Amino acid sequence: MAKMNHCQVLLWLLAGLALAAAQSENVILETLNFLRRGQTEVNLENYDNTIQMGAEYDFIVVGAGTAGCALAARLSENPKWNVLLLEAGGPERLVMDVPIVAHFLQLGEMNWKYRTQPSDHACLAMNNNRCNWPRGKVMGGSSVLNYMMYTRGNRRDYDRWEELGNPGWGWKDVLPYFKKYEGSSVPDAEEEFVGRDGPVKISYVNWRSQISKAFVEAAQQDGLKYRDYNGRIQNGVAFLHTTTRNSTRWSSNRSYLYPIKGKRPNLHVKKNALVTKVLIDPQTKTAYGIMVQTDGRMQKVLARKEVIVSAGAINTPQLLMLSGVGPAKHLREVGIKPIADLAVGYNLQDHTAPAVTFTTNVTSLKFEDFADPTWLTRFNRREGPYGSPGGCEAIAFWDLDHESDEDGWPDIELFMVGGSMSSNPAISRAFGLKKSIYDALFAEIEDKSLNAFMIFPMILRPKSRGRIMLKSSDPFKYPLIHANYFAHPYDVDISVRGLLKAISLMDQQGMKAINAKLWERKIPTCKQYPYKSWAYWTCYVRHFTFTIYHYSGTAKMGPKSDRAAVVDARLRVHGIRNLRVADASIMPEIMSGHPNGPVFMIAEKAADMIKQDYGYIK
Ligand SMILES: Cc1cc2nc3c(=O)[nH]c(=O)nc-3n(C[C@H](O)[C@H](O)[C@H](O)COP(=O)(O)OP(=O)(O)OC[C@H]3O[C@@H](n4cnc5c(N)ncnc54)[C@H](O)[C@@H]3O)c2cc1C
Ligand SMILES: *[C@@H]1O[C@H](CO)[C@@H](O)[C@H](O)[C@H]1NC(C)=O
Ligand SMILES: *[C@@H]1O[C@H](CO)[C@@H](O)[C@H](O)[C@H]1NC(C)=O
Ligand SMILES: *[C@@H]1O[C@H](CO)[C@@H](O)[C@H](O)[C@H]1NC(C)=O
Repeated sequence: MAKMNHCQVLLWLLAGLALAAAQSENVILETLNFLRRGQTEVNLENYDNTIQMGAEYDFIVVGAGTAGCALAARLSENPKWNVLLLEAGGPERLVMDVPIVAHFLQLGEMNWKYRTQPSDHACLAMNNNRCNWPRGKVMGGSSVLNYMMYTRGNRRDYDRWEELGNPGWGWKDVLPYFKKYEGSSVPDAEEEFVGRDGPVKISYVNWRSQISKAFVEAAQQDGLKYRDYNGRIQNGVAFLHTTTRNSTRWSSNRSYLYPIKGKRPNLHVKKNALVTKVLIDPQTKTAYGIMVQTDGRMQKVLARKEVIVSAGAINTPQLLMLSGVGPAKHLREVGIKPIADLAVGYNLQDHTAPAVTFTTNVTSLKFEDFADPTWLTRFNRREGPYGSPGGCEAIAFWDLDHESDEDGWPDIELFMVGGSMSSNPAISRAFGLKKSIYDALFAEIEDKSLNAFMIFPMILRPKSRGRIMLKSSDPFKYPLIHANYFAHPYDVDISVRGLLKAISLMDQQGMKAINAKLWERKIPTCKQYPYKSWAYWTCYVRHFTFTIYHYSGTAKMGPKSDRAAVVDARLRVHGIRNLRVADASIMPEIMSGHPNGPVFMIAEKAADMIKQDYGYIK
């Protein structure tokens, strides 16, 4: 690759921007990809996709997402085990490594592009009242689409899992697994709690906007301490810990598979391979293989020991149901013969946040920043905002019900993003905002003289539960997603309180110093309520039901006595032999934070439990 001079680079970018205006997001991706190629640290090699898939393996792992890559890497540490990892999507491309472009990835083919069923009490600002539910369909799964915000949740989340009848999942038991995968370089992380040498690199971003500094200051003025929120106490404020290193995304593929590339003849990775069914003997209730659509045909692969489903909280329940594991009545309705009558697909949970927009007199992120020649030069040294995960920069946790308790169990998280819905057309498109709403609230901010940022007040412990259902027995049809947001009034209430907390930060000195002000534009379809009244904000929350993409819980872990449970504490599907689930689906209750890290923990623990069950480790 010949070296480009800055002029050429700039020309490429400007061409990219011009076409961006014409809504051609692929060009944006290609442009950035092109830029990135000159860099020698980044390796363009792929896994060999030409391997002949064997007819039989010891373990078959379905889905190469956050959990699947970790599991496959850990299981294949035993050279005597043959492991097959199957992924519906294609390879991870270089552009996906650049943290700032996170929003754009959702527009590409590496996203399953799911949508919730229409609702009349949530997602009201979105086209057809349906929220977009992106999911990674690529090597690395959703760890390739995500915003790289790194959180573990609260220690009580895991003690609660244990209390619900899951021995071995309490905080003291899971902490070693967090430390095992963490390769943190966060300098002020609490040594007692952090892992330094694990495969998943975690760090601060080496660029900070003035807005993020103001946010961190204002939260402290509100009473929070600056601290390692992944340490002993979660309540506090900090610049974001991210799953990045050297301004590069650290996906699960990069963390677990890349380092062992070419060194594990007993691990086969097959991309563009959609598993359509887990084969289960209805008599012995034993899983013995899978059916997979790949290389243009349907193939059968057998599993000597186990099939492990790590297809994520939407596809895992879908695949289980397609295989006869699920609510018997529902399965019969779509013409599937039930083998195990279990509450698959229920207990769906997510985190939402009604983002609030503010203006400021300091510079906010705009896509044009990429074309700034000085920043471009810095880009080559991996500096500037390129390493910022979609502009998410700082994070704070509050226990609003017990504000005086320094070590509370937070119910609200605020995170700050250094741009607005109008920083780039990709953002409002990713969320699927109605044009009428966009025009009424955000179009004016396109004016380059305005600087705006957002705070997302994210509800941490929602009480509503949704459900994934099959639309049909055809594995190529998408399942139905009933998010059921705000079915429980607590969720509306705490969202409004979180939003008011975000607005109240503008009264703190830190925010005053950057002249931060609530962007006061009314939602046309909420105008029957007095502006800024509780009723108005309730309406606001029901409109801006932004998912933070944390779908989980749809194959709930719990004891046999719990009729809602699908897997036991060793993640074995109740009543079926040789079948496990290991991904975000198993969470009995969603943890208080962003789940990518906790899903790594689940996979690490699952790998050890499997190694124990087959006598490979004690
Ligand atoms: C846009 C977005 C932003 C996010 N931001 C953050 C964040 O900042 N911080 C954070 O902690 N979390 C974030 N998350 C959530 C986090 O990434 C997920 O919770 C986590 O990746 C879930 O891991 P998983 O292994 O359960 O599923 P996934 O990572 O989704 O993996 C499932 C894999 O299985 C594959 N698959 C599915 N069905 C089949 C099949 N039938 N056959 C073969 N393969 C199949 C999929 O293609 C996918 O690769 C975000 C998620 C998204 C989508
Ligand atoms: C895994 O990640 C590495 C590093 O980003 C990349 O070079 C490689 O192509 C990825 N592998 C696949 C199969 O996508
Ligand atoms: C980050 O980059 C530096 C300098 O190129 C390199 O020495 C280091 O190994 C990189 N870190 C990781 C985790 O790849
Ligand atoms: C922004 O506004 C604040 C408050 O009015 C003022 O003190 C500060 O100097 C302004 N900063 C800039 C960069 O204009």
